[in-house]
Amino acid sequence: MKHYVASNTRYNSMTYRRCGQSGLLLPELSLGLWHNFGNVDNYKTSKQILHTAFDKGITHFDLANNYGPPPGSAEENFGKILKESFLPYRDELIISTKAGWDMWPGPYGDFGSRKYLIASLDQSLMRMGLDYVDIFYHHRPDNDTPIEESMGALNQIVNQGKALYVGISSYSAEETLKASKILKKLGTPCLIHQPRYNMIDKWVENGLLDVLDSEGIGCIPFSPLEQGILTSKYLKGIPKNSRAAKSTGFLQESQVNQEVIKKVIKLNEVAKKRGQSLAQMAIAWLLKDDKVTSVLIGVSSEKQLLDNLGALNNLEFSVSELVTIETLLK
Ligand SMILES: NC(=O)c1ccc[n+]([C@@H]2O[C@H](COP(=O)([O-])OP(=O)(O)OC[C@H]3O[C@@H](n4cnc5c(N)ncnc54)[C@H](OP(=O)(O)O)[C@@H]3O)[C@@H](O)[C@H]2O)c1
Repeated sequence: MKHYVASNTRYNSMTYRRCGQSGLLLPELSLGLWHNFGNVDNYKTSKQILHTAFDKGITHFDLANNYGPPPGSAEENFGKILKESFLPYRDELIISTKAGWDMWPGPYGDFGSRKYLIASLDQSLMRMGLDYVDIFYHHRPDNDTPIEESMGALNQIVNQGKALYVGISSYSAEETLKASKILKKLGTPCLIHQPRYNMIDKWVENGLLDVLDSEGIGCIPFSPLEQGILTSKYLKGIPKNSRAAKSTGFLQESQVNQEVIKKVIKLNEVAKKRGQSLAQMAIAWLLKDDKVTSVLIGVSSEKQLLDNLGALNNLEFSVSELVTIETLLK
């Protein structure tokens, strides 16, 4: 592959939204490395996806300690690509990582203790070859660790200069409010919340989005395409190379069931009438709300990335389209 030079037009078409009440702007689309960047994946394809993303104004790449497989390999591969292609652009990038899920054996490699969070970030920085990440997240709530301890660890990490901002993921509305109050007191406000949110899974609408709004916290929904279900890919069964078919994919074949696909077929018709692919409509549907800062997609090819970027050309929905979508989703 030729040496990468970023496109001169990379900032021509992307819109950047303010993340909560912070100073940080994020692109309307961000790219996650949960799947497709591990050692089981094609390195050349992974690299091409990252190049194209940055060339199109996607400045934010999201990782976690356990992404792969094997766990840790997405950070290692990202670190390699960073070194080969993106070092001159480090200050144009927002790189995030997380800890909170099972990462190493024994009692200190999981959940939310200060011990785990700080050690895990040190490991992530080594794997990526970075001095600091832009955002460090607690990956999931941990009811057995005092929330003061987990938030204290996030604050400590910022004070150590190992992360510029902190966030939380999958915390409920109540837990988020508590975490936010603690972090504000410590002087490290919560920048962002990363919840699962898409047309099929709308739990965040029952309180979380309001808390984020009132606390001035940004929102970056993950799995906006329900891991691929909200695209046209499963309309005629499960294709061989899809996430549902792969043994390393987190999407189970049972999740791609007739009941869901019946809805997806109808949603696909609505998307067609809007002149969009279903993936584009699913992304636009999230971005119609200005409480959503950025939508965090995953892609297994450059083609999917370009398709998804097309969503940004039409984020408007008529009332009747929204009502139709709501009715179909019931
Ligand atoms: N905080 C958390 O707990 C958490 C949890 C999950 C994810 N995340 C983050 O969110 C990111 C995105 O999650 P996700 O990968 O589940 O997102 P997603 O966008 O819902 O699903 C991505 C998958 O959908 C398929 N796809 C994407 N665009 C397509 C298109 N235009 N046409 C057809 N198929 C398309 C591809 O699957 P195929 O492989 O089948 O082609 C792709 O890998 C992750 O990388 C990670 O950074 C965070």
